[in-house]
Amino acid sequence: MSTELLRLEGIDTFYGPVQVHFGLSLSVRAGQIVSLLGGNASGKSTTMKVILGLLRPRAGRVSFDGRDITGLPTHQVIRQGIGSVPEARRLFGAMTVRENLLMGAFARSDRLVIARDLERMLELFPRVRQRLENRAGTLSGGEQQMVAMARALMGRPRLICMDEPTMGLSPLFVDRVLELIQAVNREGVTVFMVEQNASLALQIAHYAYVLQTGRIILQGEAGEMARNPKIRDAYLGGPDAKATAA
Ligand SMILES: Nc1ncnc2c1ncn2[C@@H]1O[C@H](COP(=O)(O)OP(=O)(O)OP(=O)(O)O)[C@@H](O)[C@H]1O
Ligand SMILES: [Mg+2]
Repeated sequence: MSTELLRLEGIDTFYGPVQVHFGLSLSVRAGQIVSLLGGNASGKSTTMKVILGLLRPRAGRVSFDGRDITGLPTHQVIRQGIGSVPEARRLFGAMTVRENLLMGAFARSDRLVIARDLERMLELFPRVRQRLENRAGTLSGGEQQMVAMARALMGRPRLICMDEPTMGLSPLFVDRVLELIQAVNREGVTVFMVEQNASLALQIAHYAYVLQTGRIILQGEAGEMARNPKIRDAYLGGPDAKATAA
C-alpha cells in the first residue's frame, strides 16, 4: 500500500484581490504519477507555485512527507526533496547543457556522487549527451524539456512537479517525454504533473484531479477517468465536447 507524499488541504490563493484557489485539496501518493487536469486559467500553474513556495496561500496547508512546508522559501522546499520542471522549462539559455544540469544539484555537496548522477542522467537521456556542450538556448523544445527533467532529477528529488511537460512539442517528442516520465517514475520518483491535454496525461497517470476555476470538480483513478463519459466529453473530445465544456 502506498502512502501519501504530498498533501494540499483547504488552499485559498489570491493574486491581489483576485482569488484563484477556493479550498483546494488534493494528495499525491508515493510512487504514483498524479495529474492535475484543467482548462486555461483554472489555476494549475498557480498550484505548482504554491507547492514550490513561490506563492504563499492565504489559507490552507501544504505538507510533504507529513511535514508542514506551507510558506517555506523555494530553496528550502527543494531541499526537502521536491524537484521542479517549470512551465516553458526555464533553462539558463546562455549556459551549456552541462552547466544547466549541474545547477540542478546546487543543494548537494557530494561531488563524486553528483558526477555519477550526471552519467546516469545521460544514460536515461542519450539525446542530452549529444548536446552536453551546446548552449541550452540553441536546443529544440523537446530537447530542452529533457534537459529540464534531467536538471530536476539531479537534485535527487522524491517528488518531481512538472508543469505542462508536453506543451509545444512535436508528436514524436511528446511520446518520448511521456515514456521518460514513466521511466523516471519506475526508478522510484513520484510525479505530479499539470496538463491541459487530458488524453495524454491519462495515458500515463495513475490518478487524476480535474480543476475548474480553482476547485477540484472530479477525481479518480486515471483508467476510470478516461472511461468516464463526462471527462471524455468535456476534455477528451467526445461527441458533446463543446456543449459540456461550455
Ligand atoms: N502573476 C499573476 N498575477 C495576477 N494574476 C495571475 C498571475 N498568474 C496567474 N494569474 C491569474 O490566475 C488565474 C490562474 O492562472 P494559472 O496560471 O494558475 O492557470 P493555468 O491553469 O495554469 O492556465 P494555463 O492552462 O493557461 O497555463 C488566471 O486567471 C490568471 O490570469
Ligand atoms: Mg499554466
